[in-house]
Amino acid sequence: MSIITFINEKGGVGKTSVCFNIAWELSKRGRKILMIDMDGQKANLSFFAGVNKDSEISTMLDVFKKNIEIKSAVKNLKENLDIVPADSGVANLDMSAKVSKFRKELETVRASYDFIFIDVNPAPGWGHYLSLSISDYAVVVMLPDIASLEGNKGILETIEEIQETNNSQLKILGIVFNKNNNRTVLAKQVADVAKKISVQHQTKIFETKIRNSVSMSENLISHQGITDYAPSSAVAEDLRNLTDEILDGVK
Ligand SMILES: Nc1ncnc2c1ncn2[C@@H]1O[C@H](COP(=O)(O)OP(=O)(O)OP(=O)(O)O)[C@@H](O)[C@H]1O
Ligand SMILES: [Mg+2]
Repeated sequence: MSIITFINEKGGVGKTSVCFNIAWELSKRGRKILMIDMDGQKANLSFFAGVNKDSEISTMLDVFKKNIEIKSAVKNLKENLDIVPADSGVANLDMSAKVSKFRKELETVRASYDFIFIDVNPAPGWGHYLSLSISDYAVVVMLPDIASLEGNKGILETIEEIQETNNSQLKILGIVFNKNNNRTVLAKQVADVAKKISVQHQTKIFETKIRNSVSMSENLISHQGITDYAPSSAVAEDLRNLTDEILDGVK
């Protein structure tokens, strides 16, 4: 069982989209997945999954604040795919939310899953700290442009800090470029900077770049992953390839 956090300190890069769609594809392949929504401000993962925030459901906030068991906050979405939804406040947990509580709760569900995927908000802070502290891997989602690459060194430094202080198990599984457009004249420069960064931080850039595609928003109306919503689209192909790479990486 592997725990993977999808992360960046920048908003709107596709953290939630990549997390949701890879989880969806893995569940189609018979892997058992638990998604945990740690983004209390937006709870986009819960929305992508079609979880109604107004209903009487337990969330990650209840796990931390009311001290309930994570099991009682798990909601089944489809075969092999479960979620623990978010609630406002998850991102603003204070120190009392403790890494040890999170670890202990995940221990109780660990045997039921092949992967636990965690989606976080973009703001660096307690949510990132908590999630990275209990994860085996981080997948860094980035936009393939120079400004994003230069500006996003922060997250790689945060990860290094956590590796050194309280989670020596944590590895960066890789950096994935999302909303890719190969036609950009900057493609070569982007590739060069990316290479430099990946060497510096001892990680890799995934071969698969996820193309820019309107399907990546349209699918949300039906709360379906792309590989079911538009299975023959180019972006579905990208997501299947990235799923292969992630499976290879955690071996
Ligand atoms: N490959 C893509 N092509 C086109 N649109 C995309 C792609 N990936 C994501 N999007 C769209 O970009 C927007 C931001 O994506 P998403 O919510 O996944 O990003 P995020 O990093 O989780 O954002 P936040 O930091 O706000 O949590 C959404 O509207 C999503 O539908
Ligand atoms: Mg998000």
